[in-house]
Amino acid sequence: MEAKKTVLISGGAGYIGSHTAVELIGAGYDVVVIDNLSNSEEASVEGVRRITGRDIPFEIVDTCDMAALRSVFAKYDFDTVIHFAAFKAVGESVAEPLKYYANNLVSFMNIVEMMKEFGRPNVLFSSSATVYGDAETLPVTELTPRKPATSPYGNTKQMAEDILRDCCAAYAGLYGIALRYFNPVGAHPSALIGELPRGVPNNLVPFVTQTAAGVRECLSIFGDDYDTPDGTCLRDYIDIVDLACAHVAAVRRMTEGKMEGKFEIFNVGTGHPVSVLELVTTFEKVNGLKLNYRMAPRRAGDVPAVWADTSRANEVLGWKAECSLEDTLRSAWEWEKRVRGL
Ligand code: NAD
Ligand code: WQD
Repeated sequence: MEAKKTVLISGGAGYIGSHTAVELIGAGYDVVVIDNLSNSEEASVEGVRRITGRDIPFEIVDTCDMAALRSVFAKYDFDTVIHFAAFKAVGESVAEPLKYYANNLVSFMNIVEMMKEFGRPNVLFSSSATVYGDAETLPVTELTPRKPATSPYGNTKQMAEDILRDCCAAYAGLYGIALRYFNPVGAHPSALIGELPRGVPNNLVPFVTQTAAGVRECLSIFGDDYDTPDGTCLRDYIDIVDLACAHVAAVRRMTEGKMEGKFEIFNVGTGHPVSVLELVTTFEKVNGLKLNYRMAPRRAGDVPAVWADTSRANEVLGWKAECSLEDTLRSAWEWEKRVRGL
């Protein structure tokens, strides 16, 4: 029997979800997008429609609302869900933990509950490198022990991974993959979709592009006294289209029945550490501009360095990051310019 080719994308109007929708459609899948627009605009779904030339079904649904979710499961025939819907601001999660536990865990448990009720098999979960914390060995592999989470946000990722693992073990028809993303950056080359943070960005690249656009006065580089080659933190910046393609590879593995167990985990990064300063100077170089930045004290909670060992994703998923940092930072700037009308 031919595998069903429809994928439900929760949180599909968001940054990673919208790019994943594009790549799934390009790979021959149909998608259904649900989102409550708590951190996105319907315009991103429109962007996906424009890029793909497809009329994508989109419903405004809160995944914490079980009844609404049940209607979606009853209405559409799909085997696979990619669950992106979550809040993701680390600092906010420290200030408002209940908001994060309620949204990120209830929404995920509702999805798994519906999979069980409707007999749908495949759940792909958005996890994060944050689960590793300040790892003792670098690069981190999927077997590197997770450290106790340092934020409620990180805790929701660890807990959701565990929930998925336990449910896959308990329910015969359920299969799960958790992708641990490193630092997703950049935008679609069309500049029709990209990252749209609300308010002051927490993440480095949106802050860089907004500073270049004159929306922010000056970028603060948080810490230049780390034990790293140039004193600034090291991260693994993964291009958003590469990241989206990793989802396609994981969906293919699930829908083609190629999983070796019932629950699998993959790191999704480039495998290369890049310092904050290196990222900033690369951004300046490839876009031919000067960025206003200054060194500032360390930011609480930052780990000095983390990057991925991607061998497992390379070998098992047959996926590899391909976009250069240069091209990624060009796409990030093209997107920012379009958003600002520059
Ligand atoms: P995003 O905020 O752009 O997308 C998340 C989407 O989910 C938003 O469109 C939001 O409106 C929606 N949403 C939130 N709660 C919802 C709910 N209860 N019901 C329906 N929709 C809801 O974030 P993103 O960067 O695209 O992240 C997607 C996923 O990847 C999240 O789970 C996030 O934790 C995870 N992740 C992100 C990063 C990152 O740096 N961007 C890194 C690692 C993991
Ligand atoms: C990257 C580097 C900062 C902003 C976060 C989450 C993680 C994951 C990805 C969801 C750090 C430095 C930043 C600025 C700076 N998200 N920086 N000036 O902290 O690695 O990871 O996003 O799962 O869970 O914690 O990403 O982009 O915030 O920071 O110097 O204005 O840039 O100190 O070294 P981070 P980031």
